[in-house]
Amino acid sequence: MIKVIINGCNGKMGKVLQEVIATEPEMEIVAGIDITENSDVTYPIFPSVAQCPCEANVVIDFTVAKIVDQLLDDCVERKIPLVLCTTGLTPEQLEHVEKASKVIPIVQSYNMSLGINTLAKILESVAPTLADAGFDIEIIEKHHNQKIDAPSGTALLLANTVNASLNNEYHYKYDRTIERVARDKKEIGISAIRGGTIVGEHSVIFAGQDEVLELTHEAHSKAVFAKGAVQAAKFLVKKQNGRYTMRDVIA
Ligand SMILES: NC(=O)c1ccc[n+]([C@@H]2O[C@H](COP(=O)([O-])OP(=O)(O)OC[C@H]3O[C@@H](n4cnc5c(N)ncnc54)[C@H](O)[C@@H]3O)[C@@H](O)[C@H]2O)c1
Repeated sequence: MIKVIINGCNGKMGKVLQEVIATEPEMEIVAGIDITENSDVTYPIFPSVAQCPCEANVVIDFTVAKIVDQLLDDCVERKIPLVLCTTGLTPEQLEHVEKASKVIPIVQSYNMSLGINTLAKILESVAPTLADAGFDIEIIEKHHNQKIDAPSGTALLLANTVNASLNNEYHYKYDRTIERVARDKKEIGISAIRGGTIVGEHSVIFAGQDEVLELTHEAHSKAVFAKGAVQAAKFLVKKQNGRYTMRDVIA
């Protein structure tokens, strides 16, 4: 049985994660961590991993970036593997992840879905061929009307994947209203759409002479991220210290 602590158990993702874990016969939630109360759950809730007395095999985190340093220190102190899903980490925090991963195993990814990570894998193999043939590359992402940041971390993840496969020779263009010029060959245009309740849609468009290839991923519910986090937790409990991504999990 894999014993899980959910960090951020009362949040939107924490609740979805709880539902997904309930369908896993070999997993149980031994505790939740949150700063708010919730009397609807059967497990105990503590204010931090350090203050949680329960034995656990893994912590799965969906919280806020500002608490990630403390979380890393607590998991290192208690030697508990960590699935780190919170987004918006600073470069310094990503270095902290690296340092902590010398002691415990950590999976960290800004998108836990199987589909997006498979798309990233596909992009690595198709982008060099199409770019060499002169195809222009554009990314469009769509999200609900409550999302405040743009472009999405996932759009950047996809752009960075494409760019890395092209020797990082490309630059990103977010706004075409500033100047009246034709697009540069070595640019990746990134556009953000906001509206309604769209959970998340990402399209990578390769537009060539007389033909277009478009690869699209649609997230229809938050469960896809929770399922990916559960997969990552199962992967992690068999690992020694080290830093892993969802690409390692699905490999
Ligand atoms: N990697 C992915 O695939 C993926 C997918 C979805 C969301 N996310 C990220 O997960 C994070 C959470 O998303 P959400 O939609 O559930 O947000 P949310 O605001 O609904 O939930 C965050 C929870 O964290 C709790 N929290 C705040 N401070 C805390 C602390 N000090 N200790 C413990 N808990 C604390 C809040 O009380 C809240 O319950 C965000 O960063 C989001 O971008 C990542």
